[in-house]
Amino acid sequence: MILGLETSCDETAAALVTEDGYILANVVSSQAELHARYGGIVPEVASRRHLELITPVIRETLDEARSSLDDVERVAVTRGPGLIGALLVGLSAAKALAWARGLPLVPVDHLHGHVASLFLQPDPAEPPFLCLLASGGHTLLLDVPDHHGFRVLGTTLDDAAGEAFDKGARLLGLGYPGGAEIDRLAREGDPEAFEFPVARVPGLDFSFSGLKTALLYKVRELGADELERRRADLAASYQRAIVRALVERTEAAAEQTSAERIAVVGGVAANSELRASLPRAALAPLELCTDNAAMIASAARYVEEIPFARYLALDAYASSAA
Ligand code: KG4
Ligand code: ZN
Repeated sequence: MILGLETSCDETAAALVTEDGYILANVVSSQAELHARYGGIVPEVASRRHLELITPVIRETLDEARSSLDDVERVAVTRGPGLIGALLVGLSAAKALAWARGLPLVPVDHLHGHVASLFLQPDPAEPPFLCLLASGGHTLLLDVPDHHGFRVLGTTLDDAAGEAFDKGARLLGLGYPGGAEIDRLAREGDPEAFEFPVARVPGLDFSFSGLKTALLYKVRELGADELERRRADLAASYQRAIVRALVERTEAAAEQTSAERIAVVGGVAANSELRASLPRAALAPLELCTDNAAMIASAARYVEEIPFARYLALDAYASSAA
């Protein structure tokens, strides 16, 4: 059994997963409410909250699976990329647990974790596939040849797709995190009401900053009363532009690489319009799209473990080497 820990951003998460990919417990404690009043994540606040939550979250995970630390054979943890202080809380907890129990430790890359959300039972996706990873911190097109890793084909030149959702929600006066709020409101609006630009940068990269600026100008132009009246239309049109950009690039990449299968992972993969726009894509269940530790334990099955006690000096990393 693998105990996975994830603390790279504002979710404190632990999970117990079997070596063949069955989830026994998957506990996520979101700090979203804590950060909502700031309209975004405050890194130092996140670290301190992780510190308070990590032990209760692990305890709850073991209880939910009716297991104890005696059943854990390996400890897996997100090593990066993410907020460095937040990552260090999870990594230190993982080292302490593994060391105290004489267990090996498996360091997992957060992005590999998102991809590995697709490798869990009961309906695992089999590589090779082309994968769109769209979250609050990343927008990547990945060539996934096997379970062990990936190659980056394209990335965002500015904002991530989830960031575009969150910043757009803020301009519309919606809550944080904004993706789910826009998703909900967009269902009541007309996606053709406003025309927002879809940036077409060369190659397989993305750009979302122009879109955000276009929304800002539109909101200013409309004024407070009109914004109130047209909020759902704005949300629907803005969401349509983001989804269109993601879908167009993903389909172009699939054609260029002759990929037979497409997969979508990351928090933005929870978006209902995106899911409907790629009906044949492999999609993780909603609760595995946003950050969680089951995906980290899943990835750990395909990463070399570090034997007992050789991991004490292991460090976290804030950004990917790539
Ligand atoms: O993967 P994730 O939980 O954390 C990162 O690794 O960044 O992704 C969080 C992002 C946020 O930007 C959030 O607004 C977005 O995923 N998100 C959504 C939806 N649910 C979450 N975006 C669009 N539609 C949704 N339903
Ligand atoms: Zn993530």
